[in-house]
Amino acid sequence: MKKYWLLIWAVVVATSGCLKGQDDPVFPSPDLTIPEDESITLQSALPFPIGAAVNNNLIRTRAPYRDVVIKELNSLTAENAMKFSQLHPAENTYTWTEADFLVEFARQNNKRVHGHTLIWYKNPPSWALNYQGDAAAWDRLLKNHVQTVVNHFKGKVVSWDVVNEAIAENGTLRDCIWLQKLGPEYISKSFIYAHEADPNALLFYNDYGHEYGPTKRNGILKLVNDLKAQGVPIHGIGLQMHTRYNMSNNNIADAINTAAATGLKVHIAEVEISMNPDNIQDLTYSAGLAAQQKAKYEFLVRTYNAIPKNQQFGITTWNVGDSDSWIRGEYNRPDWPLPFDDNYHRKAAYQGILDGVK
Ligand code: G3I
Repeated sequence: MKKYWLLIWAVVVATSGCLKGQDDPVFPSPDLTIPEDESITLQSALPFPIGAAVNNNLIRTRAPYRDVVIKELNSLTAENAMKFSQLHPAENTYTWTEADFLVEFARQNNKRVHGHTLIWYKNPPSWALNYQGDAAAWDRLLKNHVQTVVNHFKGKVVSWDVVNEAIAENGTLRDCIWLQKLGPEYISKSFIYAHEADPNALLFYNDYGHEYGPTKRNGILKLVNDLKAQGVPIHGIGLQMHTRYNMSNNNIADAINTAAATGLKVHIAEVEISMNPDNIQDLTYSAGLAAQQKAKYEFLVRTYNAIPKNQQFGITTWNVGDSDSWIRGEYNRPDWPLPFDDNYHRKAAYQGILDGVK
């Protein structure tokens, strides 16, 4: 009897290998998927919004990607389509087509849209970086961008990452064009201008590295607490959580709990759990790694689920399937950081997310 099962297993493995096709990505995941129970989805199982950063080209061209987004998620963030360079490529030119496509896709499928991001040191286009003008002219540039964008999406985008990554690794304000031209007030001004344009939008400060330790985290917490104390309209704190399987649970818990202690809404805004932070070029994804990833997603979700309900803005993964993640391209390494595999099948990590709320 045992022999027959072994034979069936061998045939299944061999056939699934043959079925994998021409479009295989560079680092295919081994088949470590979990059984698909069609009666369960992330959006129906979780008591807070669950989303992903999405890429319009994949929505348009890859049906399994689009299907997973529609079926599993109830909140969407544009991975790139709402950034400064994409929306405002020249001083007097705004290009809305891509961002509008995403907002319309979300409307048709009843998804919340979180806006990402108004002001980020990394993204000003060259016209802005080379802009000549005094502080008043720079103030007008900032105000025009923030208010034109927020106003365009008023009533359609419920929340914004107003300022992204303003704190450096040492906990002080990061040097950037906005700091150079407008001083530290560029941050409070961005929130005030966004609030003027859409008083109903929830406004977030978003950054990475809360889980690295106290140095950067304390800088971020000081910034948001100072903004609150000054009466600046800030409603939430985004923890990007681009993290890794061997990040300590204590650090993850400290990141989430100190953010919650601000009293602001907390968004786990860009999560992925990297499995290959040491850039091992011949690493393969194993059942052991999958189990560690599952445990880390579960811990993250369990910790988040324990903060006050009215502060749970939701959890957003940074794209959907492993092959969509920015990590492989950015670091040129095999990695499997997301809850869905290259073929959009559920991984153990997916089960970890579900288990985190049990
Ligand atoms: O669209 C162009 C394409 O036309 C061109 O051929 C190609 C050549 O390089 O570039 C394409 O644009 C790239 C874009 O991603 C779309 O793939 C940009 O070069 C590349 O810089 C851009 O990277 C994005 C990065 O932010 C910078 O904006 C990543 O996709 C995106 O995942 C990443 O997201 C950031 C968050 O916004 C903030 N937190 C960190 C996170 C990860 O870095």
